[in-house]
Amino acid sequence: MRRVPTKKLKPGMKVGRSVINANEQVLLAAGTILTETFIARLQKLNIPSIYVDDGFLPDLQYNDVISEKVRYKAIQQTKKIFHDFRYTKNLVGLDKIESIVDDLVDELLNNKNIMVNLVDIRSNDEYTFGHCVNTCILSMITALRLGYSTNSIRLLAIGAILHDLGKTLIPLEVLNKPGKLTAEEYHLVKKHSEYGFELLCQNTQFQNASKLVVLHHHERYNGTGYPHGLARNQIPQNSAIVGLADMYDALTADRVYRSAYLPHEAFEMLSASGDYLFEFDIVKAFLHHVAAYPIGSLVKLNTGEIAVVIQNRPGFSLRPKLRVLFLSNNEPCTDQFEIDLAEVHNKTITQVLNDTVDLDLLKNKHIKINLP
Ligand SMILES: [Fe+2]
Repeated sequence: MRRVPTKKLKPGMKVGRSVINANEQVLLAAGTILTETFIARLQKLNIPSIYVDDGFLPDLQYNDVISEKVRYKAIQQTKKIFHDFRYTKNLVGLDKIESIVDDLVDELLNNKNIMVNLVDIRSNDEYTFGHCVNTCILSMITALRLGYSTNSIRLLAIGAILHDLGKTLIPLEVLNKPGKLTAEEYHLVKKHSEYGFELLCQNTQFQNASKLVVLHHHERYNGTGYPHGLARNQIPQNSAIVGLADMYDALTADRVYRSAYLPHEAFEMLSASGDYLFEFDIVKAFLHHVAAYPIGSLVKLNTGEIAVVIQNRPGFSLRPKLRVLFLSNNEPCTDQFEIDLAEVHNKTITQVLNDTVDLDLLKNKHIKINLP
């Protein structure tokens, strides 16, 4: 199974993972064979990419840190709260945020192997709500690594899921403007962190640990952020964690104006942000649990072999376990074998080949995939 941009889909391809919207409606079920009509529908819905099942590596487990069911439920509920507030100015829905966070925290703490592997699939229309939930999940993982208590993770998560609530007070034509914002419009968008903070202050259920996330999630370690230009330890740790998670998720999502950066590209960018944009210890904790090469990535090694990533472990984000598909002479590997980069030190990943390798070559040669 691999992620294929919608513009590269072809009739006859098989849907690998169901495409679901934030209302939990299945737009296209796993197993469906794509037709021109289905592809046109995906394009019309602005779905940037989907998972295609190419019949290889059926044994690969794509379980992520939070199950799709809980993630989509959280997205659906967050969408409702944000919508209700934008159109009715009714803050009552905010009461439900605690139960959303409880579901996410419960699943996170019950998950033994916490590793973020999947790049989320969302339509551009659903971007905002998927982004709120992803930012929340990434923030919780970082806090767990930093030794936060369960209650502290909950308070952080509430702030994380609501970090952009203030955007509900910014006109949609400014938020969704495809071109460059004017100086005035940019100034208005930057107001969202203060607007969100003021909204949470109107509701007594929220504690400072959550409210300050919303106010300061755009502050940066070097003092270049907003709204107050705080620097170094002036920035509450919760706000810095959410700021980092917010940046990573935005980088790895397809947007109207640019394609997503690949996970290893975003990983590299954030690796360079320690004690510059974010405190180094927070960057380190974050990168401990985020796979630079998610499961299913096709990679080329310095030795010329082409392999697929089959496993990632916390702390070894850049050194996954691989299954070799092609030998260094480009011949399909008839007797597939595995390489654990955490143990083999003379091999390195030099290129990510997703969408460029013709796996049909394996099919045409009738190579059987060995299951472990
Ligand atoms: Fe924001």
